Amino acid sequence: MVNSLLAPLVVASISGALAYPSVARSRNGTCEGYTIAVSPSSTGLHYSYPPFKDNFDVVEFVTRLSSRDSASFYPFSGPLSLSGNYTIAAEICSPAVKTGKEKTLLLTSHGLGYHGDYWNPPVEPPIEQQYNFVGYALGQGYSVFNYDRLGTGRSSRVDGYNEGQTSQQIAILTELAQLLRNGQYTGSIGAPSKLVLVGHSFGSFISNGVVAGSTANNSLIDGLLLTGFSYNLTSPDYEAFALKIASTERREWADLDNGYITWNDVYSNVAVFFRAPAYSHAVANWTECQKQAIALSEFLTFPMLDLYSPGFTGPVQILNGELDFGICDGNCTDWVEPYAAKMFPNAKVVEVLEHPSVGHAINFQYNSTGAYSAMMRFVDKHLA
Ligand SMILES: *[C@@H]1O[C@H](CO)[C@@H](O)[C@H](O)[C@H]1NC(C)=O
Ligand SMILES: *[C@@H]1O[C@H](CO)[C@@H](O)[C@H](O)[C@H]1NC(C)=O
Ligand SMILES: *[C@@H]1O[C@H](CO)[C@@H](O)[C@H](O)[C@H]1NC(C)=O
Ligand SMILES: *[C@@H]1O[C@H](CO)[C@@H](O)[C@H](O)[C@H]1NC(C)=O
Ligand SMILES: *[C@@H]1O[C@H](CO)[C@@H](O)[C@H](O)[C@H]1NC(C)=O
Ligand SMILES: *[C@@H]1O[C@H](CO)[C@@H](O)[C@H](O)[C@H]1NC(C)=O
Ligand SMILES: *[C@@H]1O[C@H](CO)[C@@H](O)[C@H](O)[C@H]1NC(C)=O
Repeated sequence: MVNSLLAPLVVASISGALAYPSVARSRNGTCEGYTIAVSPSSTGLHYSYPPFKDNFDVVEFVTRLSSRDSASFYPFSGPLSLSGNYTIAAEICSPAVKTGKEKTLLLTSHGLGYHGDYWNPPVEPPIEQQYNFVGYALGQGYSVFNYDRLGTGRSSRVDGYNEGQTSQQIAILTELAQLLRNGQYTGSIGAPSKLVLVGHSFGSFISNGVVAGSTANNSLIDGLLLTGFSYNLTSPDYEAFALKIASTERREWADLDNGYITWNDVYSNVAVFFRAPAYSHAVANWTECQKQAIALSEFLTFPMLDLYSPGFTGPVQILNGELDFGICDGNCTDWVEPYAAKMFPNAKVVEVLEHPSVGHAINFQYNSTGAYSAMMRFVDKHLA
């Protein structure tokens, strides 16, 4: 696998409508699965550090990345033009009770280490319905489009050093948004009247990325709900994760190249994603069991995104766990608020909320429905 950088790995998904498990995970509505062909093009960065031979290489890399001199450690040689044909596994979920609000479509993007189940996990022990955002939103009458990002879950697998990087994930999300706008893959709801991007962590960065800069298409997206998101990322996460090469950790990852990494165990997971005492150990353990490998390319490139969004005029909500270590070094109070309005100077409204007592994985800690309620109240007020 050493030279897998030179041999990008693309595992084709089964085509047709069955690749995403179309189980009705919530009694509040039904979901239909799709496999969607996408062809994103973007400019990213060319990875130039030697590929990892073993975990000792990973340790040295992480130490360089987090050390005092990290500003001079730049493992890229310049721009890289990226294009490819991939399949994305997705589901459209629509509410059982139609009130007209189902025409507002929430497009959810998950973060690193998860797949689409972050938003719509199977409701079976230890996961109760309170941990299911999709079910909650359906219960409020809204529709949700949820997908596995490139390289995770049932979507195409790629080269972990270069291919899955942030610019490509933004291009894919933009392409999905365009398809949905045109009424494709929206099931019985047809073309939505409002399209709202909802993100967690890396998923929030790419959601913001879709509307950032001077070239974004600002008639594509009506609103943004960003969770687990901040402008000031520092390095302690890298060390706390105690990262390792993914392929040797689990059989299901055996076909991934060494550019795919994973945090060490449930305790390094908890260090970045959870805060005691606001979570159940059984639920944290469950998230560890279903975790996804992380592409080095996405991990390294998202902190470099320019998030300034002068063209965006819709409403923006940013909701963080108050004690989030992953994104706020353990305290989100006054960490995001001073910058948010400046980053969205023309937004209709910018609301920043600290969701009390919890860490980064908002959907899997106590009072997750408190967060969903705050999010859906914002949608009701500004986007219904
Ligand atoms: C993607 O598919 C199109 C049409 O099938 C083909 O022309 C193009 O070369 C493909 N791109 C890549 C990067 O494989
Ligand atoms: C149904 O929706 C309600 C209101 O949003 C929510 O409280 C409940 O948890 C949802 N049920 C399921 C099974 O998702
Ligand atoms: C921007 O998005 C809107 C809504 O989907 C679409 O009608 C329009 O063609 C897009 N413009 C560009 C330049 O892609
Ligand atoms: C935090 O991020 C904001 C927005 O990008 C920036 O203006 C500010 O300088 C950053 N603060 C620190 C301490 O890096
Ligand atoms: C969670 O996992 C840890 C480590 O494997 C184990 O010691 C603990 O008993 C588990 N707790 C629960 C409630 O499953
Ligand atoms: C978090 O930071 C805020 C603002 O700096 C401070 O007022 C508050 O006491 C801090 N919270 C904790 C739990 O230390
Ligand atoms: C639950 O979350 C909501 C929204 O953040 C918050 O207003 C409420 O105080 C929280 N409840 C508890 C018990 O922390």
